[in-house]
Amino acid sequence: MFARIDHIGVAVEDLDAAIALYEQTYAMELVHRETVQAQGVEAVLLDIGENHVELLAPLSPETPVGKFLAKRGPGIHHVAYQTDDIELTLRQLRSTGTRLIDEQPRVGIRDSRVAFLHPSASGGVLTEIVQPSKEH
Ligand code: CO
Repeated sequence: MFARIDHIGVAVEDLDAAIALYEQTYAMELVHRETVQAQGVEAVLLDIGENHVELLAPLSPETPVGKFLAKRGPGIHHVAYQTDDIELTLRQLRSTGTRLIDEQPRVGIRDSRVAFLHPSASGGVLTEIVQPSKEH
């Protein structure tokens, strides 16, 4: 169903401070930075081996990540599993009765295609399925 972990999503209040931690202290390379209006976040990707850490800062308190920060504070927000065929993976999940937030894939960071599972269906771990764009 899933090929590997694509990234861990981390909700942050101070993006510059978080970037400093991951770049300078953890010596991870920042490879992409993008405002994703549809998700209400400014997102940063850092490389760790073949995988990534995705830092997420909310564009406003009313966004999902803004609400997450108000309720839980900074920390791990979601895990993203990679697939090379997101339509097939969503069909497989539907066939097991798994509830989805996104019935259809939408555009994610760096031209990926993403879909989130419903939290009630994923054991309390917000779970994203991601199909990277061909260039990445
Ligand atoms: Co993500």
